[in-house]
Amino acid sequence: MTEDLRSRALDALTTARARTAILTGCVDDHELTAQHSPLMSPLVWDLAHIGNQEEQWLLRTVGGRTALRPEIDSVYDAFAHPRADRPSLPLLAPAEARGYASDVRGRVLDILNATPLEGGPLTDSAFAFGMIAQHEQQHDETMLITHQLRKGPAALTAPEPPRAGAGELPAEVLVPGGPFTMGTSAEPWALDNERPAHQRAVPAFHLDTVPVTCGAYLSFMADGGYREPRWWAAEGFEQVRRNGIDAPLFWRRESGQWLRRRFGVTEPVPLDEPVLHVSWYEADAYARWAGRRLPTEAEWEKAARHDPVSGRSRRFPWGDEDPTPAHANLGQRHLRPAPAGAYPQGGSPLGIRQLIGDVWEWTSSDFGPYPGFAAFPYREYSEVFFGSSYKVLRGGSFGVDQVACRGTFRNWDLPVRRQIFSGFRTARDAGPDEGIG
Ligand SMILES: [Fe+2]
Repeated sequence: MTEDLRSRALDALTTARARTAILTGCVDDHELTAQHSPLMSPLVWDLAHIGNQEEQWLLRTVGGRTALRPEIDSVYDAFAHPRADRPSLPLLAPAEARGYASDVRGRVLDILNATPLEGGPLTDSAFAFGMIAQHEQQHDETMLITHQLRKGPAALTAPEPPRAGAGELPAEVLVPGGPFTMGTSAEPWALDNERPAHQRAVPAFHLDTVPVTCGAYLSFMADGGYREPRWWAAEGFEQVRRNGIDAPLFWRRESGQWLRRRFGVTEPVPLDEPVLHVSWYEADAYARWAGRRLPTEAEWEKAARHDPVSGRSRRFPWGDEDPTPAHANLGQRHLRPAPAGAYPQGGSPLGIRQLIGDVWEWTSSDFGPYPGFAAFPYREYSEVFFGSSYKVLRGGSFGVDQVACRGTFRNWDLPVRRQIFSGFRTARDAGPDEGIG
């Protein structure tokens, strides 16, 4: 078990670093140090920040080693500097940042080999190593967003995702009512906000079988959805009005056709693909227009994990097995969501598809602690974000790696955000005689 976790940690760290190398190796030094959007850090900041977090947690805290570069800690402290200000910091140059991250990694691999994976919450089950691999992958997704915001020709390439699975799917699925186990106390690398496992009552509801597609979203737009205040939360309507928003981010209309820009390529909006780059406000307005609503976070997790036969919550919609390329669109393997209905092998027991991968799915829920929450290993991981400012997203996108994606994983962001790989699906209450459980 211990050796399994050690090799799992080594794999996760190595996979993350290979991806970081692709994201920072496909553009020149000028582009690495440029700020492509005030919403994002220069890529070279993310690169050295990845190394610096790894140095602080694995080299100094777990390994007990002397600090390598303590003087740069403050430059790479995400809480000390908003992203817009980061280009003006005394950043390590690209070659220096690469050398630093690789120097830290070399020492960390020695520490991984030498550390007993027991004896404390940071080292039990190689937690800190898993946490740092997840941290790097989360920054890799952030860097992928920077690539999407970047102007200029394509720098990244990837094969197309699989087409939709065979057969017509029902529009929605009834999820029976009753309690289920939400969160986890068993997943070794689950983060503090996913813990602990607890019982949650969820009344019966209907959930879309697949995420809302661009084609369906175009119907909302064509019906004047962006101009009709009754579909919108007041702040959301004000935000689209003030900013002249009338379509998802990266979309534009040309000669009567909707086009989108995707990683440097302009292409017609694909009607059968899950809609991407919408804010929580847009998702919420669409749902109201459709006579539906966004699912709560508990509804989403029940749909993704609850096995109605065994009554148990599983790690993923398809079971406890780690994701494979046949289950879900993860890890930047493709540079877009797969068409709605793809990945039949990744479906839930009730037949709901694409809950994991493709697009992060907005839920109606604010980001908050589960009963029994304890901040670990630091308050700034989750606790400082709890409250009504942030909405929860679930399920992971094509840009998240499997180490940072599971049925219990929680992401959160501001309801105005749309540069993230966000989409949604809708829900509705079941009738009084439906799905009593
Ligand atoms: Fe970070």
